[in-house]
Amino acid sequence: MHSLDRATPVVVAVDGPAAAGKTTTCVALAERFKLGYLESGRTYRLIAFEALRRGVLTRDQENLVSLCDELLRESRDQDLLTSDRYQSADLRSPSVNVAVSDVARIEDLRKRVTQLVRLWAERQSRCIVEGRDIGTVVFPAAPIKFYLTASPEVRARRRLDQEHRGSYEDVLKDVIRRDEADMSRSVSPLVPADDAITIDTTTLTIKEVLGRMSSVCESRSVTFS
Ligand code: CDP
Repeated sequence: MHSLDRATPVVVAVDGPAAAGKTTTCVALAERFKLGYLESGRTYRLIAFEALRRGVLTRDQENLVSLCDELLRESRDQDLLTSDRYQSADLRSPSVNVAVSDVARIEDLRKRVTQLVRLWAERQSRCIVEGRDIGTVVFPAAPIKFYLTASPEVRARRRLDQEHRGSYEDVLKDVIRRDEADMSRSVSPLVPADDAITIDTTTLTIKEVLGRMSSVCESRSVTFS
């Protein structure tokens, strides 16, 4: 059992590859345990979206970091993390799916997003944060860490059912490409934290996954106020 310091937020860290069911389960757990919820990938997507919109080349790392700084200056507090100025459909377009891999491999940009996420979490007493590096880099001391995964084929099918965009073959290709990009980058690669609980959801229903995650949260006192 981890001791929970009340001065620091209790973070449930949820990492894993594309379309492994992180958002669905995080939203449900957040509601059940009254946790603040943050989807960190949205911020990387938002920067990629703005880069495409403003014609910044995604291989131009220096200008991408400047763009990130500009967006930070334009937003108030941690608004960049939670801003509702952007439509989900825009942030999840095929071109953003490609551009975000370039954005997410830039160390200086990741440092800025990491700092924003940490500041956001300090304002929560308890929260659940999903991403790729939450348990490894952003909150290495999180008392609860999950790593959700599933076969690429099942993840592609789920993503297609959720977004109804493109063919199964194209979605599968994108999932595999993004897995490769996220797992092989030199900065904060996607890898389960040593102390993460890995759940392979390939043959599990959402309810079963939630059941497992909830039991862990209950056993580790996330329900304490
Ligand atoms: O929803 P999905 O699983 O497709 O991806 P996402 O969470 O929206 O993240 C989009 C992309 O942002 C990922 O493929 C990663 O390249 C990047 N990302 C990251 O590098 N670190 C995070 N903590 C979150 C996302």
